[in-house]
Amino acid sequence: MMPPDAADQAARWFGECYAGQAEGVWHAPGRVNLIGEHTDYNEGFVLPFALGQGVRAAASRRDDGKLELRSRQAPDSPVTVALDTLAPGSVTGWAAYPAGVAWALREAGQPIGGTSIAIDADLERGSGLSSSAALECATALALTELHGLSVHRPELAALARHAENEFVGVPTGIMDQSASLLCEAGHALLLDCRSGESSAVPLDLAAVGLILLVVDTRVPHELSDGRYAARRRACEEAARALGVRSLRDVADDLGAVNRLTDPVLRRRARHVITENARVLETVALLRAGQAASCGPLLSASHASLRGDFEISWPQAAAAVAAAAAGGALGARMTGGGFGGSIIALTAVARSEQVRASIRDGFARLGWPEPGFLDALPSSGARRLR
Ligand code: GLA
Repeated sequence: MMPPDAADQAARWFGECYAGQAEGVWHAPGRVNLIGEHTDYNEGFVLPFALGQGVRAAASRRDDGKLELRSRQAPDSPVTVALDTLAPGSVTGWAAYPAGVAWALREAGQPIGGTSIAIDADLERGSGLSSSAALECATALALTELHGLSVHRPELAALARHAENEFVGVPTGIMDQSASLLCEAGHALLLDCRSGESSAVPLDLAAVGLILLVVDTRVPHELSDGRYAARRRACEEAARALGVRSLRDVADDLGAVNRLTDPVLRRRARHVITENARVLETVALLRAGQAASCGPLLSASHASLRGDFEISWPQAAAAVAAAAAGGALGARMTGGGFGGSIIALTAVARSEQVRASIRDGFARLGWPEPGFLDALPSSGARRLR
């Protein structure tokens, strides 16, 4: 959960940075993707939900046309930049995300002016729970509301993604920003990444005696090292070879995929197509009140991400196996891959056993102790004060 004094803490941090009072505090959550991995940029389906944890932006307007950025998690790397000099590459490191959002808003003709922003977060960077998207979305809400602009949330998500793609330089899809801005408490978000349509899917696990454990494997997740981009390129190549606009268009046609001559493209495409189907099956089960039956779909997703998409990492594989050995109903890596977190769906009554199994497994292998979080589907981004 978000700490109860999160807004006060962010406002205090603002006071320390700028010796004035913040006009407002905005919060944007991180996300867990329940299922639907590497499907967003293939115009497919995703099913994320928002966490209670996330990023706060305490902010005030200023009249010198500058953007000043401070982070409580990176106190030694403040950034001050004139808004009209913002251009891709002009800001690097953590501040590229908020600066990129300011740049994207101005590029889209939204007249934001000078702003001081103090960032505070309770989401670990690198845990694969979209701290970057949360940082972008908290900034986007703060900038638009402070400067009196009304931008629809799906459009705001697209602008935040544009910032990440063009300003930060990482070719991500639309899932994380959509999750942060559009999710509702107690629900996951089914998003059709082709049409942009979304709907809330009830996800009240506690009501049926279940919990979803998030396990941080302590291997930092990093999207900018080229491997994410390589997966994306392979999917585009597979779509070209199949003569379709995107892999979304070969749903139900594994036969066509099996005719791809390149075995790597065949595996990548197979993952995307089977994963889209698993998302829709999961939604149907949740809507029918059968959350416990989703376990095997989560495990099948992991097998596909590991075998066909080849983005799992040793600690994820070990954690997923240990979760199953401890009695979880299903488990999978979540997020972009090569590091970050796994999720395990388990009966509340079994959850201690599942945790112990994972903890012991890591200890036996001499790995640092993993982090545990009970994921509660929470509200999307909002103003706190
Ligand atoms: C990262 C990206 C998302 C999505 C996932 C994989 O989180 O930011 O757009 O592609 O990886 O599902």
